[in-house]
This record gives sequence, C-alpha cells and structure tokens, in this order.
Amino acid sequence: MQNIVVKGGARLVGEVRVSGAKNAALPILASSLLASGRSVYRNVPALGDVRTMDKLLGELGAEVTTKPGGVTLVDTSKVNNVEAPYDLVKTMRASVVVLGPLTARYGRARVSLPGGCAIGARPIDQHLKGLAAMGAKIELDHGYVEARARRLHGATIVFDMVTVTGTENLMMAAALAKGRTTLENAAREPEVEELARVLNKMGARIQGAGSPLITVEGVDELQPIEHSIIPDRIEAGTLLVAAAITRGNVLVRDCLPEHLDAVIAKLRAAGVEVTPEEGGLRVRAKAELKPTDISTQPFPGFPTDMQAQFMVLMTRAKGQSVLTETIFENRFMHVPELQRMGADILVEGRTVIVRGPNKLTGAEVMATDLRASASLVLAALIADGTTKIRRVYHLDRGYDRLDKKLRALGANMHRTRGPM
Ligand code: EPZ
Repeated sequence: MQNIVVKGGARLVGEVRVSGAKNAALPILASSLLASGRSVYRNVPALGDVRTMDKLLGELGAEVTTKPGGVTLVDTSKVNNVEAPYDLVKTMRASVVVLGPLTARYGRARVSLPGGCAIGARPIDQHLKGLAAMGAKIELDHGYVEARARRLHGATIVFDMVTVTGTENLMMAAALAKGRTTLENAAREPEVEELARVLNKMGARIQGAGSPLITVEGVDELQPIEHSIIPDRIEAGTLLVAAAITRGNVLVRDCLPEHLDAVIAKLRAAGVEVTPEEGGLRVRAKAELKPTDISTQPFPGFPTDMQAQFMVLMTRAKGQSVLTETIFENRFMHVPELQRMGADILVEGRTVIVRGPNKLTGAEVMATDLRASASLVLAALIADGTTKIRRVYHLDRGYDRLDKKLRALGANMHRTRGPM
C-alpha cells in the first residue's frame, strides 16, 4: 500500500497542465456501448477509476486498448455480456452508468447495486424511476438490479433532485429509445453537456444539455466516433487552491475558466488573484486570505467536489468561514484528520465553521475518500514538518499523478510503501 510523504513549506511556482476530466471520461467510455464498432477517445486521464471502467467494458466483451498519451480505443463489436459484477461496481459506483446504454442497446442489463459510500447513501432510485418510465421492467435480484425492455420508449421524466449520473444514464438510454424523452430538473454539469456533445456526434438528437430541461429524440442506431475529452475542472480547482495556499505563482494550463466560475469567484472573495492568461489561469496569492463562506450546490453553484480543498484554504484565512455541504450527507470525513494537524474546525451537522489563521503541523493521516485525500495533500503542503498520508489509492482513483505535478511546481513530496 502506498503513502505520500510531504515536507511542508515550499512555495509552488511554474506551469502545470490539467488532465482530461474523470467525470466526463467515465460516462463517455460507457457510451461506446451504444454503438457497434471502434471508438477512439483522446485526453483520457490516467487514473484508477478509468482503469476500472476499462476493465468493466472488457468484462462485457468490448476490446479496450490504451495507448500512451491518453488514447483509448474501445471496440464493442463483440460485446456479449450485460452483467456489471459486484467486484467492479463496489470499487467504483460510477459503473452504474452502463445501465442505461446496455438496456437501450441490448434490451437487458444486470448491474450490481452500488450500495453505500464513504460520503453518503447515494441511492440510484432516480435512475431506476426513469428507466421504468421508459418502459423497462426493473427487478432487484440478489444485490443486482435487472432491467429489461424489448425497446425503450420516450417519456417525460422529472428528477426529484439534481443527479449527474442519473441525467447521464437516462440521456444515453433515451438516445436509442423510440420517440421523444424530456428530462426535467436535469443536471447542468459541464460533464453532462460534454456527454451530450459526444452522443450527438454519434448520431443522437439531444437538445438543451447544460440547462435544466433536456430533450432527446430517439434514433434507431448510433455510430462509433473519435473524441477528445474536456479538461478536469476539479483537478484544475485543486491546483488553483494548491498555488493559492502556498502563496505561489502558477499558470494552470488547459483548464476551461467557464467551468470554474463559482470556484474562481470564491477564491477572489478570499483575496486570491486569479487571472485568465493565454492557455489557462494564472494564480497568485500575496495578500492575507479573507474568511469566505461557501455552500455546495449543483452546477453552476460551488461544486461539492471542491469543498474539502476550500476548507483547507480557509484554515489560513484571518477569521471565521462557514462551509455548508448540501449535496452529500457525510462529506466531512477529512475534518478529524485536519484537526489532528491542528486545524480549528467545528462541525455542526452539514455545516462546519473554520477559524483561522491556523499553523498546521505535520502528522500521520489517513485518506478516506477521493477529495478528502486531496485536502490532506494541500494541508501537508503548508504544514510545519513532515506529513505522511496513508491509503493514497483514494487519490489515485481520481487524480492523474497529482504528486508528480506538484513536485514539478516545487513541492517536497515522495511516495513510500507501507502498511494499510
Ligand atoms: C457525480 O456523482 C460525480 N461522480 C461526483 O463526483 C459528484 O460529487 C456528484 O456528481 C455531485 O456533483 C461522477 O460524475 C462519476 P448525484 P453522482 O447523483 O452522479 C442523491 C468525485 O469526487 N441521489 O448527482 O453519483 C445523492 O445521494 C465524485 O469525483 C438520490 O437520492 O451524484 C446525492 O445526495 C464524488 N437518488 C445527490 O442526489 C438518485 O437516484 C446528488 O448525487 C441519485 C442521486
């Protein structure tokens, strides 16, 4: 099991390139199941969850070939299995996004129910409600959800809450359904818009992606395509905070500022200089950081996937910040570890109060989920002394060699092998 050891205190300076988006790559790879033949994807990030999706597609009978430089070829012409096994789904709940494509294309899907997760219960009732509205017969069987439909038909689906993968699953199912589907209260995340772009390139007829109302005119057939995946806005946000928290001067390349408006607005409110520059965003943090409140919201609001990172930044601000998590019921697992490093954080239900400025000190800490692990890396960058972060497999699930990128900017960190 790997650990990351960080000696705090370095100021980050230089340029860093953002990789392709994890949360776009996963549904896009799954969308290859909607067509027969070979799809080619570029700018695919090298991270654990993508490897799991590759394994899952292989399990279904697709031929997946990865090439250096972030290229993945997926040939679905020999797909002969519609079961997503427990062993894979339990490691990555996003595997559920094969449910829609398999049901739509093969008339049947058998997907292990994801079960609970460190950050919340995360049910998939909206995914199932939508498929049932499109005519699928849904059964729960020995921990698996089984969906069957000779051919799905169009439907009007109103989500009870905004769900990203719910919107993606039903958008993919509707692409091959008979008739028109409308998705109301749909997720507006850039990754949803990107998936719609890919599906339309495959021959789908989708309108309104990026807005709360998406309309899909089903077609009989889709074609494999070539596509280059958008940059990862959460990785970009994490790098912006890393630069700001170390009072650095960094150009974050290949990110799309329009995907980061809410994050940039809060960084500026905290006194961080964020300036668009040719090819990216320049971050400088000279002034004293100001306390800033956030409340996580669906896009275009402040992303829940940036809450933990922003919390660490607020440990350096002079005063009290209030952070509210509205999306997941249990997304403060990083707080006890940050408190062990000396952070002054009070938890009140779904709200935390961060008092600063606080000098953090190095310690041995445990990563519990993907974004929590990123926050521990950020805390270690500014802590006095050395921090050892355990279970960094959480980090590698969603970041493409983050430690290597931070080292190139001047961070003092390396990996070691160690016990669980
Ligand atoms: C996506 O998860 C992202 N994952 C998450 O990123 C992200 O945190 C989340 O959206 C919110 O932005 C991927 O895209 C692969 P939701 P998803 O369905 O789709 C409830 C990361 O760090 N809900 O939008 O699973 C749910 O419990 C990960 O990269 C239902 O109740 O999230 C949650 O409270 C973590 N029933 C809320 O809605 C449903 O059927 C939003 O969840 C579906 C969701």
